[in-house]
Amino acid sequence: MAVETSRPLAGSLERLGTETAFEVLARAKALEAEGRRIIHLQIGEPDFDTPAHVVEAAARALRDGQTHYCPAPGIPALREAAADYLTRTRGVPIDPGCVLVTPGAKPFLFFGVLATCDPGDEVIYPNPGFPIYESVIRWAGATPVPLPLTEERGFAFTAADVADRLTDRTRLIILNSPANPTGGVVPGSVVDELADVLADHDCWILSDEVYSEMVYEGEHHSIAARPGLLDRTILLDGFSKTFAMTGWRLGYAAVPAPLVEPLTRLFINCHSCTAPATQLAGVAALTGPWDGVEAMMAEFRVRRRLVVDLLNEIPGVSCVEPAGAFYAFPNIGGTGLTARQLQDRLLDEAGVALLAGTAFGAHGEGYMRLSYANSQANLREGIELLAGLLARTAPGTGAD
Ligand SMILES: Cc1ncc(COP(=O)(O)O)c(C=O)c1O
Repeated sequence: MAVETSRPLAGSLERLGTETAFEVLARAKALEAEGRRIIHLQIGEPDFDTPAHVVEAAARALRDGQTHYCPAPGIPALREAAADYLTRTRGVPIDPGCVLVTPGAKPFLFFGVLATCDPGDEVIYPNPGFPIYESVIRWAGATPVPLPLTEERGFAFTAADVADRLTDRTRLIILNSPANPTGGVVPGSVVDELADVLADHDCWILSDEVYSEMVYEGEHHSIAARPGLLDRTILLDGFSKTFAMTGWRLGYAAVPAPLVEPLTRLFINCHSCTAPATQLAGVAALTGPWDGVEAMMAEFRVRRRLVVDLLNEIPGVSCVEPAGAFYAFPNIGGTGLTARQLQDRLLDEAGVALLAGTAFGAHGEGYMRLSYANSQANLREGIELLAGLLARTAPGTGAD
């Protein structure tokens, strides 16, 4: 809640957005403080513990005195481990000198836009999409050009959709596959066609691949691996989702060589460097055993099936099978409620926290984001409560 002040604040703040997920979390916590039980299906983080060997690596590093400043671009051991991992998983050689490390993947969204875009430039970005994209594009003074993701296309897009939006002023295109909030995965054939379109248009690309390990159908394809595109792509990944490390704040990207120095300068102006013990935990995560990641993914796969089946039993609701991430994006068009109305009523009347699709952009109207980063029992209960609320709200009468 904004607090009034007679002293002027920076005008640019008007253009800075936020993440509704944090607002819904605050409201849910307030209700919990009043003694209400809330089922959290709004959350964008795995409900698993960080693998023990990763925690141990950080504890050891702290005991060994890794408590000081370190190089702004990242420690060499992590830059090398991340370059190896990206080379292996994306199938394109990555130079460790082009890998940069930040506290979370998110700073690359902010700094990536600031380093490439001037006021008046156009940025194509997915809508519905992670809300920070539009927020930072606007804050940089650039013009957001939404790329609608539609249910009919499995919440992906076609190369022609992008081509239709490219202009002389397009400076950057942001891609996100697997996607938040839809769980959509861009098929390899579309990535190929898009690469052909972009070959004729010299813009930067920011490929947000933080859910790259979470693909249930098909495979993950990175635009960075398509011929000629690595030189202009910020290939972004992180630890939050893959290794259940949201609270550690650790992310990295392979960036085009001309962006290494400017981005490092932005880091020095902002956070100086990323905590070295955290980075050593990242080395342990990337190079150590993956059984924790595999167990988490096996559980997400089971929950995905459960959630999709239960949602499709509710009159007025339909849900396509999300191909990736840990979100379902059910269509609530038949309920007679707007997404925002359902978000508010669900929380207040049924004690279930979900996010309105509109929290991810205008094209999210008619949808809700349900995160299945919660136990099967809680998912069942939360969806039953949703069904109960909708049964009490006759279609068409919800807008009260
Ligand atoms: C699509 C997308 N990109 C980036 C991030 C930021 O992740 P991190 O926790 O690494 O900053 C998120 C987090 O929810 C996300 O959903």
